[in-house]
Amino acid sequence: MNINPYETDELVAQYLDFHYGNSYFDVKNYPEKCAELCLQLMAKGSKRKALDLGCAVGRTSFELAREFDEVVGVDLSARFIECANQLKEKGSLPYSVTDEGELSTLHTAQLSDRQLQQIKGKVSFYQEDACNLGAHHQDYDLIFAGNLLDRLQNPEQFLSSVHQYLSMGGILVMSSPYTLLAEYTPRENWIGGYRIDEKNMTVLEGITKVLDAHFTMINKPLDVPFVIRETKRKFQHTIAQLTTWRRIR
Ligand SMILES: C[S@@+](CC[C@H](N)C(=O)[O-])C[C@H]1O[C@@H](n2cnc3c(N)ncnc32)[C@H](O)[C@@H]1O
Repeated sequence: MNINPYETDELVAQYLDFHYGNSYFDVKNYPEKCAELCLQLMAKGSKRKALDLGCAVGRTSFELAREFDEVVGVDLSARFIECANQLKEKGSLPYSVTDEGELSTLHTAQLSDRQLQQIKGKVSFYQEDACNLGAHHQDYDLIFAGNLLDRLQNPEQFLSSVHQYLSMGGILVMSSPYTLLAEYTPRENWIGGYRIDEKNMTVLEGITKVLDAHFTMINKPLDVPFVIRETKRKFQHTIAQLTTWRRIR
């Protein structure tokens, strides 16, 4: 049986550090940066309800609550949602980061360090599948899907159904490094990243083709870098592409 990597101790610790720990190599905290970009985009729009899909341990959801009346974070990983809920309830959560081999250092994720303690009541977290959301998910002004697309079994199914959760005129923000790993997305479900009819088909072209039924792109795609610490001496440095879409149909 395949174990979901996002349920393991290793990734729980990595993501707590990624969301609430130090920044590395001068690269800004990614979940915070993505929330900042979303809030800039929504500056003149309605900020009643936001949905953070693939929210992991919740940093972007908390950050969006600085301005939104209500934020819902959804993730498939029960462990990630448990961490996000513990942070909401207790305000802090200890975790240990790997240094080398069996050596590790204890850290604490703390909402009060970032003045998020006083707004945490606006955020709720649920373990759910972004491709099969309950009927109560409706009428959001913003949906953010951070680095989710290339973790889905069927990205086309997600892209062709996501409009139903947004209000008309609502904004969809997606970021992804388009890593296209067959263990998450079987090759037959790729929407780009291959050649067809002697032409390159990029993931962005694939996204645009599917979203075209309900959305228009409203900004130029933006590169947003991030760093995830694996050990004291090993880091993943990745450049995600962030795209912004308005629901028009
Ligand atoms: C690469 S991580 C990105 C997490 C977070 N947005 C961030 O940028 O730090 C992908 C996240 O998507 C979640 N995920 C994968 N498939 C999902 C699905 N079908 N529905 C909801 N969440 C899913 C994983 O559990 C994981 O938390």
